[in-house]
Amino acid sequence: MLRKISFRDYPHFQKLKANAQSDKLLGLKKLISDQERSAFMCVEESGLLYEYSKSLISLESLREMISMARWSGLDDAIRQMLTGSPINETEHRAVLHTALRKEPGDALILDGVDVVSEVHHVRERMRAFAKRVHSGDVRGATGKQFTHVINIGIGGSDLGPRMVCHALGSSQSRMQACFLSNVDGEAAHLVLADCPPESTLVLIVSKTFTTQETMQNARIVREWLVNHLGEEGATLHLAAITTGVAEAGSFGIDEERVFGFWDWVGGRFSLWSAVGLSILLALGEEVFDRLLAGARAADEHLANATFEKNIPVLMALTGIWNRNFLGLPTHAVVPYADRLEYFTPYLQQLDMESNGKSHDRKSHELEGDSGPIIWGSVGTNAQHAYFQLLHQGSTVVPVDFIGVCRLPLSNAESHDMLMANYIAQQEALLQGRTREEAYEEMISKGMSPIEAARIAPYRSFEGGRPSAALMLEELNPFQLGLLVAMYEHKVFVQGYLWGVYSFDQWGVELGKILAAPVLAELRDRKVALEHDASTQRIMRYYLEKRQK
Ligand code: F6P
Repeated sequence: MLRKISFRDYPHFQKLKANAQSDKLLGLKKLISDQERSAFMCVEESGLLYEYSKSLISLESLREMISMARWSGLDDAIRQMLTGSPINETEHRAVLHTALRKEPGDALILDGVDVVSEVHHVRERMRAFAKRVHSGDVRGATGKQFTHVINIGIGGSDLGPRMVCHALGSSQSRMQACFLSNVDGEAAHLVLADCPPESTLVLIVSKTFTTQETMQNARIVREWLVNHLGEEGATLHLAAITTGVAEAGSFGIDEERVFGFWDWVGGRFSLWSAVGLSILLALGEEVFDRLLAGARAADEHLANATFEKNIPVLMALTGIWNRNFLGLPTHAVVPYADRLEYFTPYLQQLDMESNGKSHDRKSHELEGDSGPIIWGSVGTNAQHAYFQLLHQGSTVVPVDFIGVCRLPLSNAESHDMLMANYIAQQEALLQGRTREEAYEEMISKGMSPIEAARIAPYRSFEGGRPSAALMLEELNPFQLGLLVAMYEHKVFVQGYLWGVYSFDQWGVELGKILAAPVLAELRDRKVALEHDASTQRIMRYYLEKRQK
């Protein structure tokens, strides 16, 4: 059982609050010149650098945060997670996505069963299936070799594989991976327009095999297959990834084509399980293995690195500092690599579905804030969209800048430009530009003193705004696995320290429940008077316009 702490139980709380005031007064521009602090706030693991000395926190406060983490029993919580204690206590489950990364022979017994050998049993089936697809041993109904794979799923059954396939795919990919998630018929239409039915393999990915969006898309795509290939032919193009093996059978999927996983794998932590079959099919076995190896390196780092050098622990602590002591409500994640376009959306589910909670493990309402709003998109595009607010807006936003030292498909010139921007933006947030500097610059360009004085405030930047740099040596499968698992662990550590349960997601239920009667009323063209006035008006408007 996880220790039932509330955030305000920490004896460190008052001191940290006072420290936050003095750190703010001192300011980042002063803090950054402390040599000891600078040396402390940089950690490297397996080709991932975490340089976080541009966080607005003094070394003294950081040490106090680390001491708070020790006091909380975090080391024991990490051990509990890694060894399969049922720490998802609202659903009475273990949380064992780390077991998916273990090597064959690393036994981990849960309820008398060696979960690692179960994981590898399914993995072997995935590998064998992918091999047969790649070799042409398994073909489509008309004898054509599979060239395309559609992953139908949503949330954790979509975002992880989509993010990885986009990050690591290339013209060398074994198959073209397509993703269908939203219950928007146009999305289905567009995906299917790109896929030749005779050579398309379809994976229905759903932990529960009940998710409305996924099941609707699965029906549409099956009908498309049936129209082109007939009932029997369609079956040869379908496979399922689910814990609901019986439900997949009822949908008409051959048992041989069902790849299972377990209730101890949360959807948003599931890309390492059979949910990653599209990765294996599109990118090959070696890529999937290296991805797992990278994540395993992060697991070992979490388990063994001292808190002072433990990247996810430090990411979590600086995040809590930003959220609870500096009062910053959002956190931007900006990767400088187009291939990481889906990284922030992936992280949004990972972080916000885990720690967007308001009750602690004692069932009490939280006294402070928990998970921040995670947002962002790729740089440099982001610079030309919302960086204005990051530099001069009235809300301070801490930013994770993710950079990559080598992008194999880029060219030296573009890559240096990209990285120059990556570096300069962090520097600009830190340094800022005073009114006097702005004034002098305009005067030196010939502006009149009156006009320069008027414009100077608009052209000045307060600076001292916090950021952290994460740098990968290369965007390869190992390093991507490492990066993703570091964030997974950060989310776990933060949830533990906030005192929330990170592994359930009851908050998504109510909307799903209410959608059922709304859908029935839309189908019947009747609006129930039990809805509030606003909802009734919206429904009527939709029904009226829909007619046309
Ligand atoms: O609605 C949220 C959620 O339950 C996520 O946690 C999950 O990743 C997603 O829906 C998809 O669920 P499933 O894999 O069961 O279709």
